Amino acid sequence: MDDLLEPAAPEAATMAAAGDAATSDGAELRGSSFDYLTQPGTDLAAKAQAFHAWAQTRVRRGVFPYAKRLGGRPGATAELTLLDGQRHAGLNFSSQEYLSLARHPQVCAAAQAAMERYGVHSAGSTALAGNVEETVALEQELGALLRTPEVLLFPTGWAAGFGAIKGLVRESDHIIIDQLAHNCLHEGARAATPNIHLHRHLDVDHAERLLKRVRQRDPHNGILVVTEGCFSMDADAPDIARLQALARAHGALLMVDVAHDLGSLGAGGGGQLELQGLLGQVDLVMGSFSKTFASNGGFVASHDPAIKEYLRFYAAPNTFSNALSPVQVAVVRACLKLVRSEEGAQRRGQLMQAILALRGALTAQGITVLGQPSPIVPVMLGPDALARIACREMAQAGLLANLVEYPAVSLNSARLRMQVMADHTPALARTAAGIVAESLSRARVLTSLS
Ligand SMILES: Cc1ncc(COP(=O)(O)O)c(C=O)c1O
Repeated sequence: MDDLLEPAAPEAATMAAAGDAATSDGAELRGSSFDYLTQPGTDLAAKAQAFHAWAQTRVRRGVFPYAKRLGGRPGATAELTLLDGQRHAGLNFSSQEYLSLARHPQVCAAAQAAMERYGVHSAGSTALAGNVEETVALEQELGALLRTPEVLLFPTGWAAGFGAIKGLVRESDHIIIDQLAHNCLHEGARAATPNIHLHRHLDVDHAERLLKRVRQRDPHNGILVVTEGCFSMDADAPDIARLQALARAHGALLMVDVAHDLGSLGAGGGGQLELQGLLGQVDLVMGSFSKTFASNGGFVASHDPAIKEYLRFYAAPNTFSNALSPVQVAVVRACLKLVRSEEGAQRRGQLMQAILALRGALTAQGITVLGQPSPIVPVMLGPDALARIACREMAQAGLLANLVEYPAVSLNSARLRMQVMADHTPALARTAAGIVAESLSRARVLTSLS
């Protein structure tokens, strides 16, 4: 709270927004990026122009809360600059910094020491000469937390998800995947095989029916089942034990993406796998360092050294992209040490208190909060137009949080994705919930005016 910044006066924000609504033809509230994904015509640049014109209208009317710039560290309070140059200072629920480790003295000291020893650059991919001694140590330490010893690192979490699937699965193989799984998993699946079978979100019965049908029809090829430990737009989790048992029974492998829960949930930081008593029992665990471990980077872990070696050569983002730099490796190692320590447990405790306070205060205001307690708190806003205005109102009232709209989620189920961190106090979380409620009410009035 030491660096809490003063939010702008809500009255001024409301007047500006009402004035804007009065002069606008509403184009900024219509349409979505999906409209510009597939356009006819030969001119590729013209297609980008059409999207750009739509996005710029939104920027001018203050309802394009993307590509924001952070003015300092991603703390509990922060300052963000929008594309139109407007600066908003306030409570920060828009950063992925779950245990608030980005400025931890031990983490910064580790980065400094690595920089002095190695410089700042990684000099090749992990398949060639991009690793340092610490890379191997990080693989082992992460393997110990996951109880899944064969760990391969990737330059980003996205690269790990995409690379693991594309690296393992061939055209004749099959993928059974939760319909709401992260973009990197769906993109990896699409790149790997046309045989993609979507199962309804969290619906393990549906996954079972698909597994049975695919195995019956094709006894000769592989099946990869893909899910997440904490879904990034809904904050919910599947029954992983059942999925793993089903995968085994049908000669398939299961991969679980633990990007959001590893380190931030579970008494020992083992995430959803620890909560479900499954550490060490899942075929493939994939994750990211960018949410809890204060660095870019990702990993794939298994029990099989052959899978690790295979992916080193067949997962293109590993083979053909430079490795995590030594500084990033040192940062992740320092964070991992903290995650596994008493201090890590204490930080997870603080984080959970803030999560529960936020969810409780929002629910008490009659606002729908999705999923289970996790660092992601998805707040249902509803129609995209209302959500765009509500998000603008929140920023002007001193709450920074990310808008998620169609096509990232289904049409007119836009939401605010609030991401909580250990440095958020319950009091601060309750203040944020109050701003959400007020902004939503103002947005309702403004959308009915326009
Ligand atoms: C579930 C999930 N998997 C993978 C990723 C990709 O991770 P990164 O941002 O570290 O590339 C993300 C990040 O958005 C995610 O939410």
